[in-house]
Amino acid sequence: MTDLILGQTLCFAGDPLIDGPGAARHAARGGVLVRDGRIAALGEAGALRAAHPQARVTDYGDALISAGFVDAHAHYPQTAIIASWGKRLIDWLNTYTFPEEMRFADPAHAEKIAGRHLDLLIAHGTTTVASYCTIHPESVEAFFAAAEARGMRVLAGKTCMDRNAPEGLRDTAQSAYDDSKALLRRWHGRGRADYVITPRFAPTSTPEQLAALGALWAEHPDCLMQTHLSEQVDEIAWVKSLYPAARDYLDIYETHGLLGPRAVYGHAIHLEPRERARLAETGAALVHCPTSNTFIGSGLFDMAGLAAEGQRIGLATDTGGGSSFSMLRTMAAAYEIAQLRHAALHPSALWWLATQGAARALRIDDRVGNLAVGMEADMVVIDLGSTPAIAQRVAQAGDIWEAVFPTIMMGDDRAVRATWIAGREVSKA
Ligand code: GUN
Ligand code: ZN
Repeated sequence: MTDLILGQTLCFAGDPLIDGPGAARHAARGGVLVRDGRIAALGEAGALRAAHPQARVTDYGDALISAGFVDAHAHYPQTAIIASWGKRLIDWLNTYTFPEEMRFADPAHAEKIAGRHLDLLIAHGTTTVASYCTIHPESVEAFFAAAEARGMRVLAGKTCMDRNAPEGLRDTAQSAYDDSKALLRRWHGRGRADYVITPRFAPTSTPEQLAALGALWAEHPDCLMQTHLSEQVDEIAWVKSLYPAARDYLDIYETHGLLGPRAVYGHAIHLEPRERARLAETGAALVHCPTSNTFIGSGLFDMAGLAAEGQRIGLATDTGGGSSFSMLRTMAAAYEIAQLRHAALHPSALWWLATQGAARALRIDDRVGNLAVGMEADMVVIDLGSTPAIAQRVAQAGDIWEAVFPTIMMGDDRAVRATWIAGREVSKA
């Protein structure tokens, strides 16, 4: 079956953070031809219709068709504790996160929350996520199984912690290595799944555990490695006390074999000049988690400065530290944080960060994150007038960016008209 999807289309021929809004390609009446789960052609609606008269047509009118959103950093086990009140990072972990993550020793709980999380993402137009699981291998099994059942491209790994976490939520250096390796062998490259080696962050791993995971990564260099870096000032002071010999936070990861081009660091807010230089040199990815950074009170990510240095940057919800499953809300928060740093991010840059930029951070931008021939057909269809407040603003819009920006700032899952995964429409409002 060949599908022809019609509407406004938005894709990218470059990076708007570097090349400006001209990197985007917009068609007011465009189309996407989908065959065997991939994009077979892109173009003007009338021409595609004439060239493919046998295709099944879904006409979304003036809704906007884009690559599905990519969430480059999330914690699916924290789904049920999103929006928990009143704490900062370390207290928040101890008070809300760790007790909830404890529950994932039960495979039935893991299965329930994994399905809930992915269904929420689909409803919000997110088609790919890189998620942390818990220390329990069962939590990884449940997540990959739920994604496989939905046909979603996902990346995930067992979160490893062997200290500074409660009894019942600690592994060891050896068991983290063994369990991660077994899961990696079972899931990495199976269907649309990729395994990610996942030490939670420096404070919850002994040097032995970091080194064991560094060794595992060296054995499997085609995997990503994800962790947290320089999120809160108090956290950084604690990290320095735990690793007194380290030059800085990044140095801890580097000396244990956990820095490389396929490293993905969440947050990366309070970076030293040496860390920034080393990150740019290495080509590791930094993932901006703006709703989390304001919600937990972490700080203001330096998007403009880091982009100017040529850093590889993605965007993410960081749920449940983040306060929304929506990449639209996440773009809005990124805009607001940049404004507080006196930089105005253009809507093209925000949209790119939530799609191709996030995919690039995860090194899957050859497969998802953009509308282009040969790419996997993961798409979101956005209603640009999803609420009366948005619609009345869009009525004044002079161009596509003025039409898109109100949805970026005020939109949520109500703006998602449909989500397509691997060439199949999987949800419809
Ligand atoms: N640092 C270590 N673990 C976490 C987590 O679960 N969420 C956030 N936001 N930061 C972390
Ligand atoms: Zn996180």
